[in-house]
Amino acid sequence: TPRVFSGIKPSGGLTLGNYLGAIKRWVGMQSDDMETVFCMVDLHAITVWQDPAELKNATRELAAGYLASGIDPEKSVLFNQSQVPEHAQLAWIFNCVARVGWMNRMTQFKDKAGKNAEKVSLGLYAYPSLMAADILLYHATHVPVGEDQKQHVELTRDIAAKFNNDYKVDFFPITEPVIEGPGMRVMNLRDGTKKMSKSGVSDMERINMLDDADTIAKKFKKAKSDAEPLPETVEGLVGRPEAKNLVDIYASLSDATPQQVIAEYSGAQWGKFKPALADLAVTKLSPISDEMKRLMDDPAEIDRKLARGAQRAREIATPILDRTYDIVGLLRS
Ligand code: TYM
Repeated sequence: TPRVFSGIKPSGGLTLGNYLGAIKRWVGMQSDDMETVFCMVDLHAITVWQDPAELKNATRELAAGYLASGIDPEKSVLFNQSQVPEHAQLAWIFNCVARVGWMNRMTQFKDKAGKNAEKVSLGLYAYPSLMAADILLYHATHVPVGEDQKQHVELTRDIAAKFNNDYKVDFFPITEPVIEGPGMRVMNLRDGTKKMSKSGVSDMERINMLDDADTIAKKFKKAKSDAEPLPETVEGLVGRPEAKNLVDIYASLSDATPQQVIAEYSGAQWGKFKPALADLAVTKLSPISDEMKRLMDDPAEIDRKLARGAQRAREIATPILDRTYDIVGLLRS
């Protein structure tokens, strides 16, 4: 059976980008013919400084976000990465398979390190090899992520292929990134050429999953648009990044295509479209944030779910790590 793996870092709150680019699609992938494994990647979060008390809280809050969005712990394996030590163990082996030159090509590292590449953690540099370990520890065949993670999933394929080739085995699968639909690249609400991220300077740039209805409405009303009304066709969105982003968000939230949204609103002014988008977002997101808050009232229950999830994850991961050690020739006596 095909197996799906994906994860989100518990660093800062969940954004609409994480929801549309990842979680919303994961929910739709839970089915009887797919095994689904969803992780809170806390070991990835600490590649940049995280306050210890906040990290625990952020991990629980992220778990609440998965659950509130419809990840069902009966159908999916749900856990935080650090409770399954096999991730770090396999990552070390992949550090010895991946090449320094491959890491040097990672655009996310270059963006995050900026001019300060000498001062960032070694973990940030090795980040993609831990991500490959996350995926391949479960022999995952499908990885649903937003557009920004495509290069990392491609590197995972390179690591799997080099491992198989170096050791003359056919062991790790060549994973497919699943990147489809209008929500794969949700942009900053103040600048349609930048991606919406947890870490952007102004809160007005992003929708947080825990924003209340008034805040969501205000952010969409103040979102940057342009002077033209909505075009007659999607081709009319070319060269209009802010307009395209708002149409894409509407499409993704309503499970429609951008074409369908344009058909409904062609020629409309922003003064009409933005309030409609805000209403749609509030309708879709408030039940999730209400449920997140409710779940966070009982952190012990979240912890129990994650402990159970980690146990199930290890049942899949342990034999795969054992076999990997054996292939590599690491003695276990
Ligand atoms: P992270 O925590 O940055 O983001 C989590 C997921 O949200 C997606 N995403 C977006 N999608 C559309 N528009 C946006 N503006 C936007 N911002 C974020 C990301 O593409 C991602 O799917 N390295 C990963 C976490 C990770 C992982 C893995 C993912 C670690 N191991 C194994 C898949 C498989 C990351 O930093 O995601």
